[in-house]
Amino acid sequence: MKILFATGNADKMREIREILEDSGIEAVSLKEAGVSLDVEENGATFEENALIKARACMERTGEIALADDSGLEVDAMDKKPGVHSARYMGRDTSYHIKNKSIIDRLEGKEGEERSARFVCAIAAAFPDGRVLTTRGTMEGQIGYEERGENGFGYDPIFYLPKYGCCSAELTSEKKNELSHRGKALRAMRDRLLAEWEKR
Ligand code: IMP
Repeated sequence: MKILFATGNADKMREIREILEDSGIEAVSLKEAGVSLDVEENGATFEENALIKARACMERTGEIALADDSGLEVDAMDKKPGVHSARYMGRDTSYHIKNKSIIDRLEGKEGEERSARFVCAIAAAFPDGRVLTTRGTMEGQIGYEERGENGFGYDPIFYLPKYGCCSAELTSEKKNELSHRGKALRAMRDRLLAEWEKR
C-alpha cells in the first residue's frame, strides 16, 4: 500500500519510515511526490487539523493521504499552547524565549501542578471518503529550566519524571519509543493494515 504523508519535514519522514518498516506500507512525502500544499490549520482540535491536511492532500492527488498535527498542552495554562504550539508567541519567536515564558508562567507551582503532555493526532483520508484518526500522548511536567540538546521545540522543558530527564535528553530511538508521535503512528499503522485486510 502506498500512502502520501502531508509533511515537508525530513525528520518526521524518517521517523514515519522507521515505524512503517516491514509493514508493507510505503510512505512518500509531499516533496517526493512533487506536491506543494498550503492549507490553513484552523481546526479547534489536533484531529481536525490533521484531517484538514490529510483531506487536502488526498483531494489534490487522489491517493490515500496521511497528515499529523501535534502540540504541547500545559494543564496550568488551560491546556495551552495546544493546537497553537507552533504559533505560540509568534512563529518566528525562538523556542528559547517560548520555553522561558512557559517556565515563568508556572512560577510557584510544584510537582503535579506542572503537569503537561505532548499530543499527536494522525489522520488518514481515503479517496472513497473513509477517514481514520489516531491519537498518541506523552505525559510529563514542565521543568524548571531548559535541559538537553536533542529533539526540538518544547523538548528542553518537557520533564519526564519516570526517566528523570527532559525529552531533549533522550536519544531519538528512545523518544520514538515513548513519544506521542510514535504512539499515534504505530496505532495508525495497525488501523491501516486492518483496513487493508478488509478488502
Ligand atoms: P506541527 O508540526 O504543526 O504538528 O506543530 C507542532 C508544534 O508542537 C511544534 O512546532 C512544536 O512547537 C510542538 N511539538 C510537537 N511535538 C513536539 C515534540 O516532540 N517536541 C517538542 N515540541 C513539539
